[in-house]
Amino acid sequence: MITIISGTNRKNAVSLKIAHIYQSILREKGEEAEILNLEDLPHDFIETALYENSGKNKDFNPYRQQIKDSKKMVFVVPEYNGSFPGVLKAFIDGMQYPHAFRNKKAALVGLSSGIQGAGLALSHLTDIFNYCGMHVLAQKPKLYHIEKNLSENKLSELYHGLLEEQVEQLLEF
Ligand SMILES: Cc1cc2nc3c(=O)[nH]c(=O)nc-3n(C[C@H](O)[C@H](O)[C@H](O)COP(=O)(O)O)c2cc1C
Repeated sequence: MITIISGTNRKNAVSLKIAHIYQSILREKGEEAEILNLEDLPHDFIETALYENSGKNKDFNPYRQQIKDSKKMVFVVPEYNGSFPGVLKAFIDGMQYPHAFRNKKAALVGLSSGIQGAGLALSHLTDIFNYCGMHVLAQKPKLYHIEKNLSENKLSELYHGLLEEQVEQLLEF
């Protein structure tokens, strides 16, 4: 199963829109994928689902299970302060350690208002996932100036094409 993670809990996130576009590209290629939206996480999960509370929050546990059951994952990652959102790191820290990511495969997509397209964020995340034993696809689209390239839930031809290329590689990965 492929899970697409929208990497922020911000309301009306652009990341979630891109996650839906990604899901539709996968579907066109005959592959079903589920979206995991960090906005849906229990709001108190940092206090109730981490460390000594691991596995104890019944509303958070289904997300742990979803990641456990996923062989491939796609992370749609907005650039926040030169890196990825803190809520995404907290989510990762809430997964079963050390097995949640080991020997699995991930594709990363970055987006930003500025000119980096979350390039640094994707590097930071790649280091973490590699540390956790997860293989990260080399091709990582960096969707910079995202506001100029997304209108009415439709990406520019260039960016849509980059996602299509990545999907093809992910399916072979
Ligand atoms: C907390 C925060 C920090 C941000 N930091 C950056 C940044 O460092 N560089 C940048 O280009 N854009 C930055 N942005 C803009 C986001 O990358 C851009 O709005 C992106 O579309 C947000 O994705 P989202 O809608 O999924 O949250 C920031 C936005 C937020 C909310």
